[in-house]
Amino acid sequence: MSTIELEPAVTPNAGSDLLLDVKDLRVTFSTPDGAVTAVNNLNFSLRAGETLGIVGESGSGKSQTAFALMGLLASNGTITGSARFNGSEILNLPEKQLNRLRAEQVAMIFQDPMTSLNPYLRVGEQLMEVLQLHKGLSKAQAFEESVRMLDAVKMPEARKRMRMYPHEFSGGMRQRVMIAMALLCRPKLLIADEPTTALDVTVQAQIMTLLNELKHEFNTAIIMITHDLGVVAGICDKVLVMYAGRTMEYGRARDVFYQPTHPYSLGLLSAVPRLDTEGDTLMTIPGNPPNLLRLPAGCPFQPRCPYAMDICASAPPLEPFGAGRLRACFKPVEELA
Ligand SMILES: Nc1ncnc2c1ncn2[C@@H]1O[C@H](COP(=O)(O)OP(=O)(O)OP(=O)(O)O)[C@@H](O)[C@H]1O
Ligand SMILES: [Mg+2]
Repeated sequence: MSTIELEPAVTPNAGSDLLLDVKDLRVTFSTPDGAVTAVNNLNFSLRAGETLGIVGESGSGKSQTAFALMGLLASNGTITGSARFNGSEILNLPEKQLNRLRAEQVAMIFQDPMTSLNPYLRVGEQLMEVLQLHKGLSKAQAFEESVRMLDAVKMPEARKRMRMYPHEFSGGMRQRVMIAMALLCRPKLLIADEPTTALDVTVQAQIMTLLNELKHEFNTAIIMITHDLGVVAGICDKVLVMYAGRTMEYGRARDVFYQPTHPYSLGLLSAVPRLDTEGDTLMTIPGNPPNLLRLPAGCPFQPRCPYAMDICASAPPLEPFGAGRLRACFKPVEELA
């Protein structure tokens, strides 16, 4: 049995030197069919330079968590709880302060780069505009800094590509432009919402490697949103496994990856090809993610859980387990196969 080192950073909201400290984050949407709680009392924290993976299937609330932090929620959404960034509350900020936060401190990369790039403007102009607007650089300075950043994201022939339009770039290259744009103002936190799902596997791996290198180069904290636990193992320090808006499991990435303690994490992992175990059959979790309007009483994963017991009809509390980990499950860890 390997030992799990104590790591205080894994404990939500521990310490005061936190970059981001999220407490009881809750996102509710009002819909014609009733209220939908897309994010249900999340707690997590990040220190400077740390990477947190948020993992879960489609509809588990990953993007809404990010949108709540970035002030990008749809108008039928309500946010409660707290998210302190460098000690200051960032939830429900007025537009002016939000714009400043998004320009200077927290950046986000979206799944589809075309949603964030203007197709009618040269890539160079879009990069330079950010620096001229938010950093007050001259045109010449902004040009040089943009080229430097394109070089940093390993864009071949960066100088030449400054004059090209987004449609002249491949999907992977566009995502590199987005990463460059996100890092231009040296944000302390980068939120990457499934940044590689639109890309093929080889390019996905290249982008992940790039993000990993950049995080060290710029000491940027990253929230990496993905449905792939394999991605998390590669680049994250810790991971939050979400289902139906709730935390199922939270802990150090390698602990969760190598010793998952929640049946849902086990299910997600069986869909990840891995080199450290025999066999090549990939499993999927039977059933579908739940309809948030018709959640079962108790544990939301219970209808799909191979270990479900009568007690699961009452909600399992999120409890500390082992060294600095949390899990919400009644099944004793040693009984999980
Ligand atoms: N404006 C809205 N009104 C009502 N429900 C919404 C709204 N926006 C999102 N939702 C619901 O919130 C839930 C969580 O959505 P979210 O986008 O966070 O999922 P996700 O984990 O990012 O999934 P994916 O992997 O597919 O991106 C979903 O059930 C979604 O239908
Ligand atoms: Mg999403």
